[in-house]
Amino acid sequence: MSHAPSPLNLSHVRAEFPALQQDCVFLDNAGGSQVLRRVADRVRDYLLTSSVQLGASYAQSQDAGARVLAARRSVAQLINAPMDDEVVMGGATTSLMFNLTCAIARGIQPGDEVIVTNTDHEANIGGWMRLKAAGAVVRIWELNPQTLELELSDLAAMLTDKVKWVAMTHASNILGTINPVAQVAQMVHAAGARLCVDAVAYAPHRLVDVQASGADVYVFSFYKVFGPHYAVMWIQRDLLLSLPSLNHYFIGPEVIPYKLQPGNVNYELSYGCIGISEYLEDVGTKLGATGTPRQRMQCAFDAFERHEDDLAERLLSYLHTKKSVRIIGKGSSLGGGRMPTISFVVAQRMSEDIVRHMDQFGICIRFGDFYAIRLIEQLGLQAQGGVVRVSMAHYNTVDEIDRLIRHLDEVMA
Ligand SMILES: Cc1ncc(COP(=O)(O)O)c(C=O)c1O
Repeated sequence: MSHAPSPLNLSHVRAEFPALQQDCVFLDNAGGSQVLRRVADRVRDYLLTSSVQLGASYAQSQDAGARVLAARRSVAQLINAPMDDEVVMGGATTSLMFNLTCAIARGIQPGDEVIVTNTDHEANIGGWMRLKAAGAVVRIWELNPQTLELELSDLAAMLTDKVKWVAMTHASNILGTINPVAQVAQMVHAAGARLCVDAVAYAPHRLVDVQASGADVYVFSFYKVFGPHYAVMWIQRDLLLSLPSLNHYFIGPEVIPYKLQPGNVNYELSYGCIGISEYLEDVGTKLGATGTPRQRMQCAFDAFERHEDDLAERLLSYLHTKKSVRIIGKGSSLGGGRMPTISFVVAQRMSEDIVRHMDQFGICIRFGDFYAIRLIEQLGLQAQGGVVRVSMAHYNTVDEIDRLIRHLDEVMA
């Protein structure tokens, strides 16, 4: 490897995730990660001690309100939001995106253009497509099938003054590629448009920084980041204030973020999410980091990155020895630019066959299109049942990757 080994203490890390005591290898982390004990403990604690409606004058209601507010502040810190009232929470990235595009639809003029990619999960495409009903023209920024990249020159050619929105993914849930969103944000803003970024496949592997991303909207789901089935959407303040309210008629557009949280947030899951930041800070502190909470979290993610790169490189190097294998994404994790989400197909084999073989040995991987159907179609991989996807998290071990490789070797020429 070209870098020093990660200092991550895996036995400490793994002890934080009770599900990892089972005798199986979780390598479907891009589908959903394991949950931290401290997240589950917080959810339980909230339910058993704070289940009252917020906003009343009695002490228990005040305490519960303080807990939910603390949760929003914790999430704001995790994502580096300038103000916590820019943080919209909801059940899933998909539902938050539908809410967002529903709010945006009211301001769409016939002929306004929206650009989506064909590499995104449908969560960041479908809602935008529905804007056609309001008169929008939706154009598709397609992957270059040779380089497997979204070329910035292709986007530049599409960015006219008619474009109001560009929607893209920070990292592809199939290719594993990290996209240069800050660079894209500059181009998009120079054209007078806004950028919406789906960071679901990014947030488990790098410390999110919504300000550094340059995006106007930034969204991801906590169930991929060691937490519950719950999600967050950060919206740049002026934009958020300018959107109409989706809530009751008496909740006006100035009431942020509540106007985009009809029915309110889930209190216990919000409170549980504090455990994610706490864990990241704790890992950083144990690695010797000092300073602000975010500096400690950054230290944790630096260690995750090194470890994940090593795991990914181990699998990629093995796959390169197999003539029948085609890796769908960058062939190496060295030099950055790649998540430890590795997709491949095997010549003359259905992807399902490879995965079903692994099921017998408790190796949890999966096959399919992962709701990035347009990408799978462009690459002509539907006939094979999509790709085989192995997606790692920082708690996976070298032994687990070797166990996977041993069993892959039984089914691949
Ligand atoms: C990249 C990406 N975006 C969006 C989603 C959808 O997230 P949710 O299930 O929270 O709607 C997923 C889920 O797999 C995903 O991988």
